[in-house]
Amino acid sequence: MNATQALTIALSKGRILDETLPLLERAGVVPLEDPAKTRKLILETTRADVNIVVVRATDVPTYVQHGAAALGVAGKDVLMEHGAAGLYEPLDLGIARCRLMLAGRPEHRPGEERLRIATKFVNIAQRYFAAQGRQVEIIKLYGSMELAPLVGLADYIVDLVDTGNTLKANGLAPLELIADISSRLVVNKAAMKMQHARIQQLIEALRPAVAPAP
Ligand code: ATP
Ligand code: PRP
Ligand code: MG
Repeated sequence: MNATQALTIALSKGRILDETLPLLERAGVVPLEDPAKTRKLILETTRADVNIVVVRATDVPTYVQHGAAALGVAGKDVLMEHGAAGLYEPLDLGIARCRLMLAGRPEHRPGEERLRIATKFVNIAQRYFAAQGRQVEIIKLYGSMELAPLVGLADYIVDLVDTGNTLKANGLAPLELIADISSRLVVNKAAMKMQHARIQQLIEALRPAVAPAP
């Protein structure tokens, strides 16, 4: 990466893109094409020195860690699960707020065997239960976690909760708070050194756009 190269920001489709674009706009960065309409994955912006790339939410830390994107926006859940090697986390953007929770059927009484926990957050769940000395079997899923306790695949789930509507619609209840979640700006550590002035300028331009914590 050299000083003349454009800065690339990795964002994911959906709520992170939707909630980050207004913040970037206030920092003078607007995509030249509508990200919701184009099939392009690299978007030029009104700032010739800034591009946006659109990736899966769970891939954002990977792109930034390897320097394929100098910056990115990722949920704290994704960062906790992925690990923070090679990344700085200079700004809590206060967007996509939710909670990472243990949830289950309120009437469920687990048996004597090890608790079975279904989740896509395998590392977070392992750490959470290990810290409490609780023996669990983690069952990796990629989505629709709420189904697992209903069909006897797991005793409990570890999943994101916002309004609680998804849990409620499936007869589940939130049981334990694991972490409060919001999305963070992440920066590649080497890029932060090599392109310090431009990245710092972007961070400072974003800072006033960020809503204060509730
Ligand atoms: P994909 O749709 O590609 O499987 P995903 O489900 O992880 O990915 P999103 O649903 O856009 O993608 O979630 C991105 C981030 O937004 C999550 O990592 C989390 O931090 C936050 N988030 C997820 N669900 C909610 C929600 N219901 N309310 C608020 N924030 C949420
Ligand atoms: C997320 C999350 C929960 C739901 C929680 O799903 O995985 O299922 O939101 O939100 P609630 O408490 O307001 O109901 P999302 O909407 O991202 O759908 P997804 O399954 O495609 O990830
Ligand atoms: Mg989702």
